[in-house]
Amino acid sequence: MATRRKPSSKPSEIPPEVRSEEARPPHTDAPSLAPPKFGIIIPVAAAFFLSFFYLVFVKYRIEPDLRRSIAINAAMSFGAFVLAVRMIPVAARYVLRRNLYGFDINKKGTPQGTIKVPESLGIVIGIVYLVIAILFQHFNFTSDSNWLVEYNAALASICFMILLGFVDDVLDVPWRAKLVLPSFAALPLLMAYAGHTTIIIPKPLIQYVGAAVLDLGWIYKLYMGMLAVFCTNSINIHAGLNGLEAGQTVVISAAVLIHNVMQIGASTDPEYQQAHAFSIYLVLPLLTTSLALLSYNWYPSSVFVGDTYTYFAGMALAVVGILGHYSETLLLFFLPQVLNFLYSCPQLFKIIPCPRHRLPRFDPQTGLLTGTKDGTLVNLFLRLFGRCTEQMLCIRLLIFQALSCLLCFWLRHVLAGWYK
Ligand code: UD1
Ligand code: MG
Repeated sequence: MATRRKPSSKPSEIPPEVRSEEARPPHTDAPSLAPPKFGIIIPVAAAFFLSFFYLVFVKYRIEPDLRRSIAINAAMSFGAFVLAVRMIPVAARYVLRRNLYGFDINKKGTPQGTIKVPESLGIVIGIVYLVIAILFQHFNFTSDSNWLVEYNAALASICFMILLGFVDDVLDVPWRAKLVLPSFAALPLLMAYAGHTTIIIPKPLIQYVGAAVLDLGWIYKLYMGMLAVFCTNSINIHAGLNGLEAGQTVVISAAVLIHNVMQIGASTDPEYQQAHAFSIYLVLPLLTTSLALLSYNWYPSSVFVGDTYTYFAGMALAVVGILGHYSETLLLFFLPQVLNFLYSCPQLFKIIPCPRHRLPRFDPQTGLLTGTKDGTLVNLFLRLFGRCTEQMLCIRLLIFQALSCLLCFWLRHVLAGWYK
C-alpha cells in the first residue's frame, strides 16, 4: 500500500533513523503509545453489559449450567479485555520496529498526518481471542460433546483468517486476491460442517416453492462460503475512519449477543439453545477484545487495526451466524455493510475507476471532511448530511449501525409468525 513501509532485507535501503534503532531492544526504540481512550467506551460498554446480564440472570429462565458457562465466558472475556489493553502498546512497538505502520490519511497536511501509526494491531486481538476461546472449552459444562467438533472447526477458520489477514497486511496482496482469501479460510468450517443443509421457506413463499423445507445440499455449503467472503470483505471496505472498523464490530457483536440471549430465553429446545449459547461463547470475547482495540483506535487513533482485524472480525461473525443458523438476521445487522457493498460494486468490479483509497477529502484549515465521488457510505453520509469532523462522522456511522440492528429486532418482532 502507498503509505506503508515494508521492512527491507538490504541494509543500504534502510533509512538512517531506522538503522540506528535496529541495534536497540524493541522496548526502548519508539515513543510510548498514548493511553487508551476509555472516555465514552467504558460507560457505553457498562450500560450494554448491565442489560445483557439482566437478560441472562433475571429476565429469562435459563438452565443453571448454561448460565454458569455464560458467566465463566464473560469472566474470561473480561480477562481478554485487560490482557489486550496491556498487550497493544507492547505489540505496537514491535510492529513499528518492523516498519509496519500507516499514515493517517484524514489528517494529511497537519502534524498528526506525519506520525507513523502502528498497523495491524488486529494480530494482538486475534491471538488473545484465540487463547481465550481455546481455553474456554474446558469450562463448557454440556453433556453433548458434538459441539466441540464445530467449535474447533470455527476456531480453525478464524485462525486461518487471522493468518491470511496478516499476510495481506505484510505483503499487500492485490484486490482480486483479497476477495478470495476468506473462501480459503472458511474451508475448515465447510469441511467439518455436519449440520443440516436445509432451509425453512418463508411462509408467504411456500406456495411458489411447493415445500415448507428445502434441502439445498452442497449449495448450502456454497452459501456458507459466500457469507464468509461477504462478512470479511464488507467490514474491510467500510473503513478508513478512526474507530470505524472496531466500532462497527462492537455494535454488531452487541446486537448478536442480545439476539442470542433472547432466542435462548424464548426456546425450550436444548439443541436450539445450545446453538445460540455456542454463538455467545464466540462473540463475547470478540466484543471485549474489540473494545480494547477501540480504546486505542478511537479518534485520534494511536494504532490501526489492519486487514488482520477486519478479516478476523468478519470471519468470527460469519461463523457464528452460520453455526447458529441465523444468517438472515446477521445480514440485517450488517445493513450498512450491505448498502456500502452495493454502492461500491461499480468500483469493485472496475466498471468505473477504483483508487487505492476511497476516503473523503480532508481540509487541514478547518479540520472538516468533504465527501468525494467514490462510492462509499462514508462519502455518501458527508454528501447527505454535510461536512463534519472525522470523529463526528464515525459516531454518525456507528449510530446508523445501531439503528440498523434495532430495525432488525423490530422486523423480527413484527414478522414473527407471518414470515416463518
Ligand atoms: C479498504 C478500502 C479503501 C480504504 C481503506 C481504508 C475499498 C475497495 N478499499 O482498502 O478504499 O481507503 O480500506 O482502511 O473500499 N487509514 C486511515 N485512517 C483510518 C484507518 C486507515 O488513514 O482510520 C489508512 C492508513 O493509511 C492505513 C490504511 O488506511 O495504513 C489501511 O488501509 P488498508 O486496510 O490496507 O486498505 P484496504 O483494506 O486495502
Ligand atoms: Mg483494510
